Amino acid sequence: SEDAVLRPQTLAQYIGQEQVKNNLKVFIEAAGMREESLDHVLLYGPPGLGKTTLAAIIANEMGVQLRTTSGPAVERPGDLAAILTALEPGDVLFIDEIHRLPRAVEEVLYPAMEDFFLDIVVGKGPSARSVKLDLPPFTLVGATTRAGMLSAPLRDRFGVISRLEYYKEPELQEIVRRTADVLKVDMEDPASGEVARRSRGTPRIANRLLRRIRDFAQVRGDGVISESITEEALNLLQVDRLGLDEVDHKLLRGMIEKYRGGPVGIDTIAATIGEESHTIEDVYEPYLLQIGFLQRTPRGRIVTHDVYRHFDLEVPEE
Ligand code: ADE
Repeated sequence: SEDAVLRPQTLAQYIGQEQVKNNLKVFIEAAGMREESLDHVLLYGPPGLGKTTLAAIIANEMGVQLRTTSGPAVERPGDLAAILTALEPGDVLFIDEIHRLPRAVEEVLYPAMEDFFLDIVVGKGPSARSVKLDLPPFTLVGATTRAGMLSAPLRDRFGVISRLEYYKEPELQEIVRRTADVLKVDMEDPASGEVARRSRGTPRIANRLLRRIRDFAQVRGDGVISESITEEALNLLQVDRLGLDEVDHKLLRGMIEKYRGGPVGIDTIAATIGEESHTIEDVYEPYLLQIGFLQRTPRGRIVTHDVYRHFDLEVPEE
């Protein structure tokens, strides 16, 4: 895909997440010196921060193949067996949304991770028997939005657990500049800064906005991405000063208008704005919590006074 060409191929090209990157660099180098496969790695954090990209980089830096699947795609133990037995020594198996692996599959994964063998039941009824298969050593890279959604026995089998953080503005601006270079489009510095400010700390959002702004620059301008075309495009895309979009607005305004700012439960919010609860929890809520627009209380979510100010609303009395 066009996204794939935008992705950095090495840790050196990967911008931000300095701690995660520096640690991985050591673990990869050490495993290489010992001629062993890298220990299993769990990456967690909000969507769009580069978990898939890091998995590909790990495989590339180790000089092995990357195999990719996802929790919901591996429906039965046999599906996992097919994937694991096709691996070559040292390969990286990336399982996205690993918290969604069925329990029966998870149980087959434990001995595979720990001792590189498979213990599966073949056949049904009286002719069913247990088969043990040796596997090549491999590295499992699991990705999830929240580590807390993983069962404890699965989490415990990862030797490296790394949390990805929202990117800082200068890092995001560097990513935007790099993407503009890859896309061979001229972009002025104030324009990349504006995209960085309005991308919710998330490279996937920044790169998506950049493509749409490029469209506006091409059709309405001379192809150069200036600050003014960027502002015009972001306003037309309904991305506000802080990078909040229509869904964020519906959520925050809904809480204020229907529930006086809360406390209100996640399922109630979800029903009010017509989004899935888990989409709100995984995609929208983490950033709003991070910038201090939402707070969690034992009785539900509340909006903070900053939200009233952001919308130019009168701040309620306590
Ligand atoms: N593109 C998306 N995320 C990136 C990152 N962290 N570094 C460089 N390019 C990227």
